Amino acid sequence: MVKNIPPHGGKLINRIASAEDREVLLDKAKNYAMKKIQLDSREITDLDMIAVGAMSPLEGFMCKEDYDTVVNNMRLANGLPWSIPVTLSASKEEIEGLKPGNDVALIDKANEVIAILHLEEIFHHDKTKESLEVYGTDDKKHPGVDYVYKMDDYLLGGKVSVVNRAKPGDFLAYRLDPAETRELFVKRGWKRIVGFQTRNPVHRAHEYIQKCALEIVDAILLHPLVGATKSDDIPADVRIKSYEVLLEKYYPKDRAMLSVFPAAMRYAGPREAVFHALLRKNYGCTHFIVGRDHAGVGNYYGTFDAHYIFDEFDAHEIGITPLFFDHTFYCKACNGMASYKTCPHDSANHVILSGTEVRRMLSEGEAPPPTFTRHEVAKILSEYYQSTR
Ligand code: ADX
Repeated sequence: MVKNIPPHGGKLINRIASAEDREVLLDKAKNYAMKKIQLDSREITDLDMIAVGAMSPLEGFMCKEDYDTVVNNMRLANGLPWSIPVTLSASKEEIEGLKPGNDVALIDKANEVIAILHLEEIFHHDKTKESLEVYGTDDKKHPGVDYVYKMDDYLLGGKVSVVNRAKPGDFLAYRLDPAETRELFVKRGWKRIVGFQTRNPVHRAHEYIQKCALEIVDAILLHPLVGATKSDDIPADVRIKSYEVLLEKYYPKDRAMLSVFPAAMRYAGPREAVFHALLRKNYGCTHFIVGRDHAGVGNYYGTFDAHYIFDEFDAHEIGITPLFFDHTFYCKACNGMASYKTCPHDSANHVILSGTEVRRMLSEGEAPPPTFTRHEVAKILSEYYQSTR
């Protein structure tokens, strides 16, 4: 009998209000002058992921004790590993008159009430400390740090009840909640599933580590992040087209599944690798790929910091098994894909292109070599870059 891996903390959280509670909460929000707080796109996706259990065991936005232990020690107050704060920020004006015990209406950009926050705590946001501890820098050129500094000055903690789920209009065929991926894994008889995080098109190096991983498990969940990313990352709709064509032509249909990961990118490198792994466990993955400079940006992190960070936890506390990969590339002398771990040849044989170089080639209508990017993917990327010129 195939069974799913237990979620982080043992229970898949569900914070979607029941039909009955929903009526009561919406009525309260409408008729009792409940304070409203508008969420930005990251907060909206975090809220939804909390509600459907992707962030299990979180039941709401973090209160101070959890926040502090996460920032300082990469653990929730109950001791469970957790590496990235999940917070809701508010301005001085927004918190005026608010008290713990109040219910607060959380609204989207169209002013529709999407959830109720059962407010437990309001606390001051120490942005410098969070930046230094979580991102390892307080340089505002770092996109994750930039976001932290742009947040409002107070954090609101408390459980949430979602009354109207945000309805993203894109990638509907690929939007699966943790309960759904878990059910599909069981239905397909997959016991060992490796999750793959990406915010990029799948190049040959990605494909290679995915297939090396697939050799030792039952299936792969290609789980590209489609929440907010920095402006020079390739938009998710273009990436999805590239994943579709690859899956169609180069992956076994009964062992590969594409679904989207709604989270915003933090670019927190090693800390985000742990976060990505724990969330993929909640989606039912048993293994998770961590390659070189996972979730990194610029030169803020060492190439393998995202591997070393897992040594700070016992394997059973993390639950999901990380699969670490060295830097991979095509080697002309090996005549195949390889890595620094497996290839004895000189670097002159290695086909390694920087992101900047690939962007330049594509925008000038030059295709990267097929040893770097499959031509079907190059075509999609090249059309995109040409259209942005
Ligand atoms: S990330 O920000 O989502 O990590 P990206 O989409 O580039 O960025 O990477 C997805 C995964 O592939 C990460 O685990 C990353 O470490 C890994 N990866 C990307 N390129 C390589 C490479 N050339 N060699 C080994 N691992 C890689």
